[in-house]
Amino acid sequence: MMEIRTVGIIGTGTMGLGIAQVCAQSGFNVIAVKATPGSWEKAKASLEGGLNKSVERGKMAAADRDALVGRITFTTDERAVADCDLIIESIIEDLQTKKDLFRRLEAICRPDTLLCTNTSTLSVTAMMAVCKHRSRVAGLHFFNPAPVMKLVEVIHAFETSEEVIETLDQFCKTISKGPVIVQDTTGFIVNRLLTPYMLNAIRMLERGTGTIESIDQAMKTGAAHPMGPFELADYIGLDVVEAMAHNIFEDVRHEHHAPPHTLTRLVQLGYLGRKTGKGFYDYAQKPPVQNP
Ligand code: 3HC
Repeated sequence: MMEIRTVGIIGTGTMGLGIAQVCAQSGFNVIAVKATPGSWEKAKASLEGGLNKSVERGKMAAADRDALVGRITFTTDERAVADCDLIIESIIEDLQTKKDLFRRLEAICRPDTLLCTNTSTLSVTAMMAVCKHRSRVAGLHFFNPAPVMKLVEVIHAFETSEEVIETLDQFCKTISKGPVIVQDTTGFIVNRLLTPYMLNAIRMLERGTGTIESIDQAMKTGAAHPMGPFELADYIGLDVVEAMAHNIFEDVRHEHHAPPHTLTRLVQLGYLGRKTGKGFYDYAQKPPVQNP
């Protein structure tokens, strides 16, 4: 198995930061690269803000917080990941942008550096296809919030080597996650099941079966889900849910997977869920927004 000491994270959004935190918490040195224009200070402040809350609530010692933050180097320079043993990209869900990134990473890194994507529904094999050293390309799919959710889907793309899968499986265990190995298919396991579930809840709303609140309450108290489907969609981000629906629909071409009208309208209006303050729920003023 390959040895992993330093992890490069490309993209410092919600998922990238969460993954950086998880890796640093387990003692890995992390290089976190802000992938979009602008400085990295805001990303670092956001990570520190979350950790400060843990310290205030007595969940983490101040010294552990400082050590964790000290293991993460923030930068805007992609070339800083050149010496990393494992790179996990968590940039925008756009295949062409990810392919371009993989091409650049191959030019910077050693031929044995593990190159992983945190994509939700895009083809890992399509990213692998632009690489010369393909056997080191795989998926490492974390769930939001990454510091809390135990699962990581380890995605076995078409030419990923068994040694790489074993190394990633062990890495996930080292960072206290419960990995599941999945073949590279659209949506893997969780998003392939979870996306139609959320789409069905939206169609149920459109049919008038129940309200946003009643459907959420039913699934929380009747199926023991921590969040109802609308709370979950708002939490994931409605643009992300729509993109996942789109990618799965493109693959299976069954209307069951097509994004419902209400979802598309909310995204068009910029109501993307918690991150914009409004989605199915209005986080400034309850009750939930009406079906547009
Ligand atoms: N970062 C770090 N820790 C967090 C956190 C975050 N963003 N959000 C919550 N936590 C921690 C809290 O600190 C708390 O820890 P403690 O028990 O040690 O005090 C614990 O999680 C529980 O948090 P809360 O008490 O504040 O709130 P809840 O009990 O309501 O739990 C939740 C919040 C963990 C988000 C829970 O509602 C949940 O599990 N929801 C479902 C999340 C889910 O399904 N995620 C998967 C989405 S799909 C996906 O990510 C795939 C992608 O490809 C789209």
